[in-house]
Amino acid sequence: MASIHGPITDVSEFHEVLKSSKRIMALCGAGLSAASGLGTFRGAGGMWRNHQATSLATPEAFEQDPGLVWLFYSYRRHKALQAKPNAGHYALTELSKEMPDDFITLTQNVDGLSQRAGHPREQLKLLHGSLFDIKCFDCDRIELNNYDDPFHPLLAIDSEEDSRLAPAENTEQARAAYEDPNVDTTTINPDDLPHCPDCKAGLLRPGVVWFGEDLPEDTLDEVSEWIEKDKIDLILVIGTTATVWPAAGYVSEATSKGAKVAVINMDGLDGELGAASNLRDDDFLFQGDASKILPEILKPIIGELEGVH
Ligand code: APR
Repeated sequence: MASIHGPITDVSEFHEVLKSSKRIMALCGAGLSAASGLGTFRGAGGMWRNHQATSLATPEAFEQDPGLVWLFYSYRRHKALQAKPNAGHYALTELSKEMPDDFITLTQNVDGLSQRAGHPREQLKLLHGSLFDIKCFDCDRIELNNYDDPFHPLLAIDSEEDSRLAPAENTEQARAAYEDPNVDTTTINPDDLPHCPDCKAGLLRPGVVWFGEDLPEDTLDEVSEWIEKDKIDLILVIGTTATVWPAAGYVSEATSKGAKVAVINMDGLDGELGAASNLRDDDFLFQGDASKILPEILKPIIGELEGVH
């Protein structure tokens, strides 16, 4: 049943809008991969809160304690490789195949699960890079699709309880170590971390976009080009608090091109929906697990997903 005042929660009403939509965009966040067992950053079940993920995801943190930042990313690579894509990823893959020119997915996720679900590469825009790209901190070197686990023997992490992952303590110790070379630190000596094979001087680092860094220019250009081409009928805002910019700005870019908004999120209007919180009466809100909701709401176009849970 649709409520008198929006957003609409009725699946059959959404199906009608979906079927009449010519150009569709999706903006995805960590919630898409939650059913695969990967933690989100904020909102219900944000597993990194205790680890202060946002304070580790900066170039400054890497400069201060590259060993600690690498351990954090090594753990995330390990977890992402253990995880399997879920039905939400596969549903988006199918929609992409059905609409090769008229559906693009912008993802903030760096976990590689959409790629492993077979999402056509040219329809997947990695706004925040990938855990599996390795860059040099100093020069332009970038290596794509490195799935070594661990990336380096010193970076092997078997559990979240690994004492080397306690950020505050270790960062403090690391700071003390810089001031006094006799102070011991439990994080890794930067000299022992992998260095760039090209420039030799720079440390290698994960190819993700850290706070304060620019998003990949080519990717942003491709997205703008797609957006500018024509009007947009629908934007699916999936599993994201839509609070991190410029990614969150794509919601209003889509609505300014005529799009209706459909939010798919574990949280409802009383949660944090950021740039997608001002839903209008003819927008949609589907509260729950994206891995259950996406196959259901996209069914008129993608049909039944076979053998995926
Ligand atoms: N299905 C749908 N939504 C879910 C599910 C689920 N199973 N589980 C959690 N969610 C929702 C949460 O309610 C929350 O709104 O997913 C959202 C996750 O939000 P964030 O943790 O803020 O993740 P995201 O929006 O991707 O963060 C953006 O922040 O730290 C940076 O670079 C990082 O790309 C990341 C960016």
